[in-house]
Formats: sequence, structure tokens, C-alpha cells
Amino acid sequence: MRVDVLTIFPSIFDSPLRESLLGKAIDAGTLDVRVHDVRDHTTDRHRQVDDESYGGGPGMVMKPEPIFRAFESLGDGPKRLLVMSPAGRRLDQELVRELSKEPWLVLIAGRYEGIDERVVEGLGAEEVSIGDYVLSGGELPVLVVLEAVTRLVPGVIGREESHERDSFGADGLLDHPHYTRPAEFRGMRVPDVLLSGDHAAVERWRREAAVEKTRRNRPDLLER
Ligand code: ADE
Repeated sequence: MRVDVLTIFPSIFDSPLRESLLGKAIDAGTLDVRVHDVRDHTTDRHRQVDDESYGGGPGMVMKPEPIFRAFESLGDGPKRLLVMSPAGRRLDQELVRELSKEPWLVLIAGRYEGIDERVVEGLGAEEVSIGDYVLSGGELPVLVVLEAVTRLVPGVIGREESHERDSFGADGLLDHPHYTRPAEFRGMRVPDVLLSGDHAAVERWRREAAVEKTRRNRPDLLER
């Protein structure tokens, strides 16, 4: 999968793209992530990427021209373009699964109060929010989308099975609790059934524990 990121803070991406799963997938060539500095696509002496809001009000708006130019520099081919915005469609695992099947994504991180609406209109971008809260910019949301999507790309996670059972999987439940050694820690014991070796009993316990966790933390998911 190829992913192009458009941002005015490219260095935010340095470490996250080097470490862990993302870093490994990039090294292995499973993922081709290219980070572009929108400021490199300005043509004025001040390399201006933002301007005042028409209609007034505080805060600056990102100008359309450098973003259009950056996008057009990527070359031809079918791309799915997402703009990170708290005013966007909320990201969930269903959208993540859909995006993981795309061969080429372009993710735009906005700053300031927002991005000129003509980016959405003129480039056919979809606005995506990572949740109902406001961050100062779209860089962290881009990384959230990137990590959530790329871990579903075949070859990024070793065993396909490892995300089959994730929260928001086929059964619509949150993941069950997990335990590792020691069997007893500060007076808290791992449930006996998990030490029993009885696979059917373990499966039953996990299912019940997942329902219980979902009831406690996300009762809205059970109502669906
Ligand atoms: N930019 C600022 N806040 C955001 C959010 N919640 N989701 C996506 N982009 C954002």
C-alpha cells in the first residue's frame, strides 16, 4: 500500500514511522509512506501556507493552492484522499477495514482553524475525524489512521489471526481480558480456567468476559 501524507510539520512523523510495526512494514516494503511538506509547494517568497478567514474571526485557514499543488505532484493513479478534521465522519473499525483495501491513500493533516473548503470540494476529499474532541492539528489523527489501517494490510501483522479477535471484530464485542505470568500477583489470581488447559472452557470464559467488559465499558455496543 502506498500512503502520501501532506503536512506542514513533516518531522512529527519521523519517529512513529521508524518504530515498531509501521517501521518494520516500511522496511519490508509492504508499506510505502511518503511525507510531503506542504510549504515546499508554495510559490511566494514567504512560503505562506495560511491566511485570514473570509468573514472574519480568530485563527488562520490553510490556503488551497499549496495543497492542490502538493496533491497534483503525486502523479496519476486512483487515490483515496482523506482530510483530517474534527468535523469529519468519525473513524471506526469498519471504515478502517475499508481503507485497508485501498492501494493508495493520501492523508492531509490540517493545522490552524481548518483548511479552505475548496480542498474538499475540488479534490474530492473525504473528511475524517478520530473522535469527538479537538486537537491542534491533523498530524496525530493521520498517524492514528495510518496505524489502524496498515495493521490490517496483509503482511503487516504476522498471523492473520492476531486481529481477527480484536475489539470491534466480527462479534461486535470488545476484546476479552488478557493475563500472563505470574499466576498470582499481589494477591490477584489469574482465573483458574485459563490455567486448566481446557480449550473449550477457555473459549466460553473469554466470550463471557468479553460480553461483561462490553457491558461495563461500552453498553452502547450491546444495544446494536
Ligand atoms: N484535527 C483536530 N482534531 C481532530 C480530530 N478529532 N479528528 C481529526 N482531525 C482533527
